[in-house]
Amino acid sequence: MKFTQFLLRNSSIPKQALVDRFSKFSPSPLSMKQFIDFGSANACEKTSFVFLRQELPVRLANIMKEIDFLPDKLLSTPSLQLLQSWYATSLMEIVGFLEKEPDDKKILKKFTETLVNIRNRHNNVVTTMAQGVVEYKDAFGSDPVTNQNVQYFLDRFYMSRISTRMIMNQHSLIFDGSANPAHPKHIGTIDPDCAVTEVVKDAFDSSKMLCEQYYLTSPEIDLTQVNAKGPDQPLRIVYVPSHLYHMLFELFKNAMRATVETHEMALHLPPVKVRVSLGSEDLTIKISDRGGGVPLRKIERLFSYMYSTAPSPVDIDNSRNAPLAGFGYGLPISRLYAKYFQGDLQLYSMEGYGTSAVIYLKALSSESVERLPVYNQSAIRHYQTSNEADDWCMPSKDPKKLGKYERRS
Ligand SMILES: Nc1ncnc2c1ncn2[C@@H]1O[C@H](COP(=O)(O)OP(=O)(O)OP(=O)(O)O)[C@@H](O)[C@H]1O
Ligand SMILES: [Mg+2]
Repeated sequence: MKFTQFLLRNSSIPKQALVDRFSKFSPSPLSMKQFIDFGSANACEKTSFVFLRQELPVRLANIMKEIDFLPDKLLSTPSLQLLQSWYATSLMEIVGFLEKEPDDKKILKKFTETLVNIRNRHNNVVTTMAQGVVEYKDAFGSDPVTNQNVQYFLDRFYMSRISTRMIMNQHSLIFDGSANPAHPKHIGTIDPDCAVTEVVKDAFDSSKMLCEQYYLTSPEIDLTQVNAKGPDQPLRIVYVPSHLYHMLFELFKNAMRATVETHEMALHLPPVKVRVSLGSEDLTIKISDRGGGVPLRKIERLFSYMYSTAPSPVDIDNSRNAPLAGFGYGLPISRLYAKYFQGDLQLYSMEGYGTSAVIYLKALSSESVERLPVYNQSAIRHYQTSNEADDWCMPSKDPKKLGKYERRS
């Protein structure tokens, strides 16, 4: 801490020194249990404050170091410049609390206000970053190495953002003195008794409404649930309902769009089948449509940020009118939400028939622990070694070369 104090007092030291300093610490992942302890009856604002004023700079600095590995021409786009300035300002604001007295109520209040400001400042991070990527791609094209690096970076960057928003939200919701009257049992954004099937129904209804507005028709839901502990046991887990809703809403929009577009001429649309199952380890939700499917070769691409379509400023301004398909971020961001608490999201498709999307979540809260990127040598290696040749043979396209062997250099 002494070094940080020195940096703070000496304003001539560039922000980069702070980033370097905090990026040397590893982020500390929190478990659902820890999140709940922070917000339970004996919740201590002081403890949470002392933790966050160190942890937030660490998480921000870790990902800021990775931004530097993006191609220079992407870094110099106005979008990326703006985005980096948001991160630097927010880091400085939190670091400003390091020397402050945790027993001072005014300081605690100011800190909560600062977190709310930071959250608002970062509201448009995803669209701004997406715009930067599109500007870069339009001006300079894309190559496999850049694609791979941008994909690796953005998965980590957006995951880091999910995590910082989560810890800032928890603190501001729990300690701003106003309990949520609609959900008195929620702890911040966490529902310790989240009724999964209810969230499924909510997300389905919202997507159905959107689908009907746009296509004037929509498929029905065929929902079944299984609990390994017994047929009458409720299907509940400790989870963040807004995260679950986000994933389900995205998957339902995709399933409905595919169903309606493949059965344009049909009188009846095949329903979207949803199976929810709670085992001893996993809570699994499978959403199956008969929307014609996607060939295996293209599946990986559906999760790619570089393949996605342009979020033009017009689209952003008109986001209220967004139809069922937007920037192409639905799947990759949903997968990050699933992975954030050690789950996953996978697509299984049968081209010519339909697609199943499966969300895996941890059934036990003791296993739901944040999954966070850390800036270290392995991360650096990822950005530096993707130039290597493929280690699988490439078929020759020239038939005359068949049977003629060339010595490898
Ligand atoms: N269930 C599905 N059946 C057929 N194709 C699908 C299905 N789900 C996704 N896809 C294909 O994958 C693409 C990417 O999906 P994704 O949800 O990531 O983006 P999007 O739907 O295009 O836009 P957004 O979700 O950001 O509004 C879709 O455009 C669609 O072509
Ligand atoms: Mg989508």
